[in-house]
Amino acid sequence: MEVGFLGLGIMGKAMAMNLLRNGFKVTVWNRTLSKCDELVEHGAAVGETPAAVVKKCKYTIAMLSDPSAAISVVYDKDGVLEEICNGKSYIDMSTVDADTSIKISEGIISKGGRFLEGPVSGSKKPAEDGQLIILAAGEKGLYDEAIPIFDVLGKKSFFLGQVGNGAKMKLVVNMIMGSMMNAFSEGLELTESSGLDPRTLLDVLDLGAMANPMFKMKGPSMLQSKYPPAFPLKHQQKDMRLALALGDENAVSMPVAAAANEAFKKARSMGLGDQDFSAVHEAIKGPKHP
Ligand SMILES: NC(=O)c1ccc[n+]([C@@H]2O[C@H](COP(=O)([O-])OP(=O)(O)OC[C@H]3O[C@@H](n4cnc5c(N)ncnc54)[C@H](OP(=O)(O)O)[C@@H]3O)[C@@H](O)[C@H]2O)c1
Repeated sequence: MEVGFLGLGIMGKAMAMNLLRNGFKVTVWNRTLSKCDELVEHGAAVGETPAAVVKKCKYTIAMLSDPSAAISVVYDKDGVLEEICNGKSYIDMSTVDADTSIKISEGIISKGGRFLEGPVSGSKKPAEDGQLIILAAGEKGLYDEAIPIFDVLGKKSFFLGQVGNGAKMKLVVNMIMGSMMNAFSEGLELTESSGLDPRTLLDVLDLGAMANPMFKMKGPSMLQSKYPPAFPLKHQQKDMRLALALGDENAVSMPVAAAANEAFKKARSMGLGDQDFSAVHEAIKGPKHP
C-alpha cells in the first residue's frame, strides 16, 4: 500500500515511521522540509508539496497542529485540493473541531475524493509503539479500506459515523485529560506546600481507584520541574478552547474545564507552549514564597 503522510511533528514522525517499519511505501511532506530527512533514511520518499504527495499516493494521511494548519494544507496553493480526485482518499488525523473537519471534507468530496477524519487518543509513546486509539468518522467504505493502516498505527479504532463525530469525541477526551492534569498539579502543589512528600502522594494515588498511566508517567518529572514535550501545552490549550466552544454550542456548563483552560493560557503566557502540557504545573505553583 502506498501512503502519503503530511506533517512530521511529534506524532506524525512516529506514525510515518511505524508505517515504514511495517512495510508500507510512504511518501512524506512537512512544512519544514528538513524534518523529512530522518524518514528518508528509513526508506521514505519525499513530496515537494502536499499536492505532489496526493498526486503520487492513493491514500494520504495528515497529522497537523491545529485547524488553521489543517485547512491551509488542503486549501492553499500546492495544497491537497489541487490533486485530489476520484479514486484518491484523504484521512486527516489532526485534532480539530467538527466545523474544520466538515470544511475539509466538503473540499475533498467536491473534487471527487473520499474523506475520513481520524483523530487519535494517545501521545508520543503510544504513537511510537503503534498503540493509539483512533476515533474515525466519515466515509465507511474508506474506513474499512484503511483498517490495515489503523492496525499498524493503533491498538483500537472506532467508527463514529458522520464527519465531525470523531473530532467531537477527541475534544471531549482531551477536555477531561486537561482538567485531570490541573487537578493533579494542584494536588502535588498542595501536598508540598502542606509539608508532605509529594512522592508519597504519587504512591498513594497509584495504589487506588484513581491510578492511571498519565499520573504515573508525568508525576515524577513534574516533581523535578521537567517537561520534555510529548504533548505540547499549546496543543492542549487549543483542545480546551475547542472543547469549550463545543460546550457553548450545546449549552453545556463546564466550569472545571474553563478553569483548566485559564491555567493552560497562563502557562502559555509564561512561554511554556512548546513544553509538555504537564508544564501547567509551573502556572499552578506560581512564584514561591520567600
Ligand atoms: N503530541 C501528542 O501527544 C498528541 C496526541 C494526540 C493528538 N495530537 C494532535 O496531533 C496533532 C499533531 O500534534 P504533534 O504533537 O505532532 O504537534 P507538533 O509536534 O507541534 O507538529 C505539528 C505539525 O504541524 C505542522 N504545521 C503547523 N502549522 C502548519 C502550517 N500552517 N502549515 C503546514 N504545516 C503546519 C508542523 O510543521 P513544522 O514542522 O514545519 O512546524 C508539524 O509537522 C495536533 O492536532 C495535536 O493536537 C497530539
